[in-house]
Amino acid sequence: MQLISCTDYADMSRKAARVIAAQVRLKPQSVLGLATGSTPVGTYKELIRLHREQELDFSRVTSVNLDEYYGLSPEHGQSYHHFMRVNFFNHINISLGNTHIPDGLTKDVAKTCAEYDQLVTSLGGMDIQLLGIGNNGHIAFNEPGAFFYAQTHLVDLDEKTIKANARFFESEAEVPRQAITMGLRSILSAKLILLLASGASKAAAIAKMVKGPVDPQLPASILQLHPNVMVFADQEALALA
Ligand code: F6R
Repeated sequence: MQLISCTDYADMSRKAARVIAAQVRLKPQSVLGLATGSTPVGTYKELIRLHREQELDFSRVTSVNLDEYYGLSPEHGQSYHHFMRVNFFNHINISLGNTHIPDGLTKDVAKTCAEYDQLVTSLGGMDIQLLGIGNNGHIAFNEPGAFFYAQTHLVDLDEKTIKANARFFESEAEVPRQAITMGLRSILSAKLILLLASGASKAAAIAKMVKGPVDPQLPASILQLHPNVMVFADQEALALA
């Protein structure tokens, strides 16, 4: 695990975008694993700038997102489908048909989850997987628990996650209680993992991820088993590492 110390959020975003841009230039048909949440927004902004100003071409890229709230339609303002369109896809030349996000409205969860795992396998895994990290150490919505979840699954969101994500909704009561999330097998099948962390609220999770044992109570700690992880973190997020 390589720790890259960044001066601030903007520096973190630029550095992460540079790695993704290099990947796309070297392999135009790259498979990118993408994340939502507030942390990657700056990275997406920088990639949009590179697309506009330096002709970074996404026309042959395929993307696979980590997760979606269960019960939210793609049109819902807080769905991750909506987030990706507004923050990234609408501003670059990716083909929407090549973008994949779990179906939050599925009536057959088991089938949807199995198909999502098959999709990742059929794509040969992600060339790069972009990740944020929850205050509780979750990656995607793999929440702390008794064991690591390998497969895409429906998850009951942790109380801490519901509280942390309430800032995006009108009230905490409106935050969906469940999500469909990619499991750790697909995430770990990525050739390169970029984990972004910004702010003091992430410091304890980052310290445990880096220094603690590999423990399902801190799901991000499993990244210690991956040979190619770059952690881009600002000073506040690195304070305890
Ligand atoms: C988002 C995701 C989550 C977030 C995490 C951090 O697709 O899977 O794991 O990365 O909750 O969220 P922010 O960046 O909002 O602090």
